[in-house]
Amino acid sequence: MNDAPLDPLTALRPWEAPEVTSWGRLPMNAVDRRSGAVPLDGDWRFQLLPAPDAPLGEAWSSSYVPGVWTMQGTGDLPRYLNIRMPFAEFPPEVPAANPTGVYEREVDVPAEWAGRRIVLQVGAAESVLLVHVDGRPAGISKDAHLAAEFDLAGLVRPGERATVRLTVVKWSDASHIEDQDQWWHGGITRSVLLYAVDPLHLADVTVRARRDGDLLVECRVRDAGGALPEGWYVSGELDGQLLTQDTEFDRANAEDERVSDFLGEARLRAAVPDVRTWNAETPELYGLTVRLHRADGTVADTSRHRVGFRDVEIVGRDLLVNGERVFIRGVNRHDFHPLTGRTVTYDDMRADLVLLKRFGFNAIRTAHYPNDPALYDLADELGFYVVDEADIESHDHAHEIADDPRYLGAFVDRVARMVLRDKNHPSVIIWSLGNESDYGANHDAAAGWVRRHDPTRPVQYEGAARRGWADPDLASDIACPMYAPLEECLAHALSGTQTKPLVQCEYSHAMGNSNGTLADHWAAIEATPGLQGGFIWEFWDHGILQRVNDARPAGRGGAGLYDNGVAAPGHRWAYGGDFGETDHDGAFIADGVVFPDRTPKPVMFEHREIAAPVRIEAFRHEGVVLSNHQHFRGLEWLSGEWELSLADGDTLTAPAELPALRPGETAAVPLPFTVPEDGGEAWLTLRVTTAGDEPWAPRGTVVCLPQVRLRAALPPAHTRVPDGTVEVGEDGLLVHPLLTAAPVLSLWRAPTDNDELGGMADRWRDWGLQAPTREVVSVRRSPGRVAVVSEYLCAGGTVRHEQVITAVDGGLIVDESAELPEALYDVPRVGTVFETVAGLNLLEWFGKGPWESYPDRAAGAPVGRHRLPVDELFTPYLRPQESGGRHGVRRFTLSASDATGLAVRLDRARQVSVTRHRAADLAAVAHHDELVPRAGCVVHIDAAHRGLGTASCGPDTFASYLVAAGIHRWSWTLRVL
Ligand code: GAL
Ligand code: MG
Repeated sequence: MNDAPLDPLTALRPWEAPEVTSWGRLPMNAVDRRSGAVPLDGDWRFQLLPAPDAPLGEAWSSSYVPGVWTMQGTGDLPRYLNIRMPFAEFPPEVPAANPTGVYEREVDVPAEWAGRRIVLQVGAAESVLLVHVDGRPAGISKDAHLAAEFDLAGLVRPGERATVRLTVVKWSDASHIEDQDQWWHGGITRSVLLYAVDPLHLADVTVRARRDGDLLVECRVRDAGGALPEGWYVSGELDGQLLTQDTEFDRANAEDERVSDFLGEARLRAAVPDVRTWNAETPELYGLTVRLHRADGTVADTSRHRVGFRDVEIVGRDLLVNGERVFIRGVNRHDFHPLTGRTVTYDDMRADLVLLKRFGFNAIRTAHYPNDPALYDLADELGFYVVDEADIESHDHAHEIADDPRYLGAFVDRVARMVLRDKNHPSVIIWSLGNESDYGANHDAAAGWVRRHDPTRPVQYEGAARRGWADPDLASDIACPMYAPLEECLAHALSGTQTKPLVQCEYSHAMGNSNGTLADHWAAIEATPGLQGGFIWEFWDHGILQRVNDARPAGRGGAGLYDNGVAAPGHRWAYGGDFGETDHDGAFIADGVVFPDRTPKPVMFEHREIAAPVRIEAFRHEGVVLSNHQHFRGLEWLSGEWELSLADGDTLTAPAELPALRPGETAAVPLPFTVPEDGGEAWLTLRVTTAGDEPWAPRGTVVCLPQVRLRAALPPAHTRVPDGTVEVGEDGLLVHPLLTAAPVLSLWRAPTDNDELGGMADRWRDWGLQAPTREVVSVRRSPGRVAVVSEYLCAGGTVRHEQVITAVDGGLIVDESAELPEALYDVPRVGTVFETVAGLNLLEWFGKGPWESYPDRAAGAPVGRHRLPVDELFTPYLRPQESGGRHGVRRFTLSASDATGLAVRLDRARQVSVTRHRAADLAAVAHHDELVPRAGCVVHIDAAHRGLGTASCGPDTFASYLVAAGIHRWSWTLRVL
């Protein structure tokens, strides 16, 4: 037993006391104290205790701050669970075994801080933070994604050294409302710093900047010591223009004893003529400096802000930014890094946002907690609409907690602190009360606080919205469902009962090879008043870089051990279950539009095109009609180049003159080419790039690639007059010098995450589609032709397959048909698969590309001539699955370095894939690093291929993208190069 006197903070047992949201913590505000502060990041002494009341040991190790100890070799490892809590206790209780990190370091308090108020700021700690200075209690904080500040008056002395101890308790009552779908970690995730201000200082600044140029700045001055001295005043300056004092307010205020006794308030105003308004396309910012002056005019405190003039309002059922019904092309973003878990740097955040900008996104939901302050600065600067979400998710115990009065304070506290911190960011257009926490009185309390404190922005909460999208009384001004089927959204918008903007807070679940029907969604959104967009779930695949030999996180030492979405040899991207835990939610954590190293997945290109600011609306004989699909910007920031791709000819290019178009306008521009008589199918692409440097993209960055078909393909003119010989074996299988496995029928794909979680994969396995027994019914040989009829016997039914191979001048024509019985009503594919000899390493094709595309995710891949090494065709989804497909392929060649190889021409545009893996290879392993590439190529030519949909969480693909039962026919020619 440890008989040392119990520490008062520990004695409170704040980890099981939801009523205790903080103790000794200063109120949140919007004054940025980062500059001029003493940073305390770096290595701290560290001990990991088994429980918060366990005695401290003798031996210290060290831990890097900011960082989570779960990624720093402590043996307490990351754990992934989606909904379920990692322990069985009911809120507010937690298990006795409760890892507790004790961080300690010495801090030299600058001597020149004498007489000032000294504040410790801890950027974020999960989940309970206890602060001691020289063994004396300084404070307690919860709310794992917002900073906590503590006044160290009386605890430290300027010019002396103090020992700061931060004790972080991993499991607490707060964990029950921080049950977001992500890894569980423990630690200090954002920077720690120490700063000083005068006792009388700017306590808070609230900026209201409207699109008409009206600026109102409200300042609060706090005197830690008591009354306000005579003659002090506040001034403001906006890009050099002095703000005026709101003297009327000051006078009224001076008479109000309640205010002036304790808290000084001042109002400043300006009317900015010809104001440059802020929006996500042109994020114009002004610099505001607010100063607190002593009676003699000297400056006691300064607060700097960047101001964006803009209005957000809901009019009818439209969400308007500066009067425009903007589309919300959003993504849900978690704080994630494959080496540091939850700690992200400024550069990381900037890289995230720059990438999103380049791929057409204009909005972020901070799923599911407030982000680092720097993220909002970046969003202001680069141009994003932000739904700022409070750190409240009680998913596993949602119903109990939403109305539990013990948690009332925590709900209001979390929402209020977020609003107090972020209210001055023009990027923040909506407050969110949290995620997946049912709906109860605690939400209404929080909503009530926000509505009074900040009437300038709407409030949303999915849990309330789900009670009725049009219900006027609920805590959500936005109908913000998650994964609502498109037809439901459409029906609502067309019902005549819609009262609120419909912006899905989550849609199009990006797990694995996914995001089918995204383009269909956007076609509907853009065409339907009442629909305004949504936020794709989600940005990141949260794969943690892991050493395969000891199954430990690589941590900060893993820098550079990945490239292009793939972990270096000896490493892999870990997901749920990979750290030895038996209870977990597997690869559901890998559901982002980027790989763990931020390499874009193919869906990003789809999104970029869907968001295209310039579109080709139509093709007429005299030219094409271009339109401007932005809300605020002209086309002057873009330049263009025309590309004419001929299926059987060269690609021609010509500079494009983009017309001057305001948003919503269209103009006809003449065709830059005379389309050659021959060359077959012809496509015109407008390659749109940035004309100059944008803050998020250098000049020449591709913005979109709109396309129009100028001439259709002619039907293939095969004569089918036999000329030559066809060699097949007894079994009717083609013998060919370049093929190591003859073309056979394929009905299966390695199930995608959507196929698995949507239940299709089980059905396919039950039907035995992965390995049917092939039985030859007949082999009929005639000169230059072989016709083989076979049956593929599956548990679910028998598929009759016919393959007629005709030798013609220079190659083989393969005519195939397959008849699927009604019982096989939704199979992943019907087509041909064969395998080639090694050495054919380059694929050149005419069709959609160059990136991966599937029938319901093909809008962003322009038709043209593309070429890629075979090894680059495959997309390394974390859990191997169907991958690497190319949609709309008309012909391809597969060649060796000496240009020998094979050429295939298809009867019409079809789904093709060329990889190093059989479907069974992919389905047999759980991680990409377990795949052993084959030397040759596995080639699929599909008569029909099922769409991808998003059934891992949300709607499946549409009926039109399913593979129907009945007869499928396809043909192709094979030629040796
Ligand atoms: C939503 C939830 C997200 C995530 C997603 C599935 O229900 O809000 O946090 O769990 O589903 O990936
Ligand atoms: Mg959840």
